[in-house]
Amino acid sequence: MPKGGLTRQEDRPIFASKSAMYVQKAPYEAIASIYDFLMRHVDYRRWVGYLKALWTRFDPGRPDICELACGTGNIALELWRRGHRISAASDASEAMLARAREKARRVGAEISFVRADLRDLSPLGKFKVLLCVYDSINYLPEGEFPEALRQAYMHLSPGGLFIFDICTEANSMKYFLDYTEVESGPGFSYERRSRYEPEERVQYTYFKVRLAGDPRIYCETHRQWIYPVEWVVERIGESPFELLGAFSDFTFKGVRGGEANRVHFVLRKEGRWR
Ligand SMILES: C[S@@+](CC[C@H](N)C(=O)[O-])C[C@H]1O[C@@H](n2cnc3c(N)ncnc32)[C@H](O)[C@@H]1O
Repeated sequence: MPKGGLTRQEDRPIFASKSAMYVQKAPYEAIASIYDFLMRHVDYRRWVGYLKALWTRFDPGRPDICELACGTGNIALELWRRGHRISAASDASEAMLARAREKARRVGAEISFVRADLRDLSPLGKFKVLLCVYDSINYLPEGEFPEALRQAYMHLSPGGLFIFDICTEANSMKYFLDYTEVESGPGFSYERRSRYEPEERVQYTYFKVRLAGDPRIYCETHRQWIYPVEWVVERIGESPFELLGAFSDFTFKGVRGGEANRVHFVLRKEGRWR
């Protein structure tokens, strides 16, 4: 998610119109069409380079990979461009998957973009590496995280790796206590407001999107649960996964002192899930 303030106050009035018709949408339903613009600051190449460094540290082979919560396919397609073995990617949002499929079709990438919730990966097969990044896991309430772990476990081959990230409370406190961004792109404008509620440990993000020639304003409410790193480590400890590492901010350094904004976890499938 963006860092720092990009507020353009002069753009605000378009969202304040009393006569506008507001239409509530599910998370990522309306912003799917502008997601790549929203994320244009993200260096997906560097991210993929980091993910590759993470898995090759623990699995030097050429694993078959699946990306969970793949959104519009930016990571999956970059993996494909680099010649990695990625045959499938999944997400819960059909709108995001439609974008991913269209992008794959344009470049001739043979990746199957499958609808699957992190809490039910039954539409997927088994893989040597499962990836799930860009704080997608944070969309699960704490009580649902163990099931996501179990699902990932069931869809890995023996010795397979599950690599996922979370954004931390330090990140929410630094950047999202009260954050507003108003922007325009080709054929649309949007407003994004985020606030973090420390008592609930929930980060709320509200989007309003307006498309050219459409009088409606599409609204989305996103909730992300900001788990403590130690809590995640405990849940992993309750599973048969072996925790190979928890790395802060795109480094290979461990997590110390609550400073990290983002933590990538690398887990290996061991034993059996009881
Ligand atoms: C911040 S986006 C990240 C997308 C992509 N990984 C990327 O790097 O651009 C979060 C994604 O998580 C997906 N998501 C949220 N909750 C989910 C769930 N329970 N199961 C599967 N996907 C989910 C959303 O649909 C969205 O595409």
